[in-house]
Amino acid sequence: MIKANFPIEKLKAIETPCYYYDIDLLKETLKKVKEEAEKYDYLIHYAIKANANPRILSLIAEQGLGADCVSGGEIQAALNAGFPPQKIVFAGVGKDDWEIALGLDHNIACFNVESEAELNVIQEIASNKGKIANVALRINPEIDAHTHAKITTGMKENKFGINIGLLNDALSELTKFKHVKLIGMHFHIGSQITDLSCFENLAIRANEIQDVLAMQDVQFETVNFGGGLGIDYHHPNEFPIASFESFFSTINRHFVRRKGQMVRFEPGRSIVGPCGTLIARTIYVKEGETKNFVVLNAGFTDLMRPAMYNAYHHMENITSNEEPEVYDVVGPICESSDVFGLKVELNRVRRGDLIAIRSAGAYGEVMASQYNCRKLPRSCFSDTL
Ligand code: LLP
Repeated sequence: MIKANFPIEKLKAIETPCYYYDIDLLKETLKKVKEEAEKYDYLIHYAIKANANPRILSLIAEQGLGADCVSGGEIQAALNAGFPPQKIVFAGVGKDDWEIALGLDHNIACFNVESEAELNVIQEIASNKGKIANVALRINPEIDAHTHAKITTGMKENKFGINIGLLNDALSELTKFKHVKLIGMHFHIGSQITDLSCFENLAIRANEIQDVLAMQDVQFETVNFGGGLGIDYHHPNEFPIASFESFFSTINRHFVRRKGQMVRFEPGRSIVGPCGTLIARTIYVKEGETKNFVVLNAGFTDLMRPAMYNAYHHMENITSNEEPEVYDVVGPICESSDVFGLKVELNRVRRGDLIAIRSAGAYGEVMASQYNCRKLPRSCFSDTL
């Protein structure tokens, strides 16, 4: 197992828990995703929900990516970071009126619409403002993403998207609206998808839908395949960059793109996941009768994923070279679910040791809470430490 290369002496001095972002890795990842997307002229909208740390956002905006937002707050964060409004798309099953208004005021590129009810509201608000909203219909493609149930979105039982059977109703509704312009279709089938055949199935489903709609003379300027590409949580040092190459080439091989059609993606985790590490300090090594616990000063308030999705995050004791031992690694929060990992092998841990919880750049800092009146975690960056 390759060990990560952390600036340990500097990290010893920081206040923990703290998200440490490897900016070189983020830049390399951005370079790679851009290179691979450019091969097919694909447009990338970074999914702000994965990490909205202002420094991270500005670095991504600087590289020319667009943004995928799911709330007015995210639109504001994207604008503050320098994402141009013409590169912002706005999804979400429950867009509130003020959020739609904000998008319209800034003339964002597209609203990814999830229901007929929402179309009506967008029409009304746009008409009051004398504006025209570009919309893509988010279609629920009924494709299994083979991922955790809590991050699956493209199945009939999920709340997301318009069911294929109801598509015609939405389309006929649209013909009545003067302030809504249909420009595309949108999909997002789930997150942390490592089986690329799911994306193959999605591309094939998109073809089927396009074919049927073409017979009704409905054509789309843009098709948006959403996000979802997974990362290797088990081998963060060996495979630090997601397989953008295979991902885009899978879509390219199977999706029949119409002439002049723009193809968009909304990756989140694959852009920022690997570059973030939660650095926590060991408060105690607690000996039990059957096992030993490493009690960290970080808990699920700092990184929710293990408690919420049973997610695996690779861990390393970056301040010890002693022989490995096996521990349950837990946080200080008063709930039994506050566990980062069971039977984790770590170089022998002593009070004060720093434990690196890897691949925490996506859905880590941004999902932190203040439960138990705890402080929010801090953040620091490899290039300014
Ligand atoms: N587009 C839409 C419409 C989405 O709902 C999402 C994620 C993305 C793009 C970005 O997906 P990504 O490329 O990051 O997989 N908190 C969970 C993940 C929730 C994902 C929600 N939607 C976790 O920690 O695993």
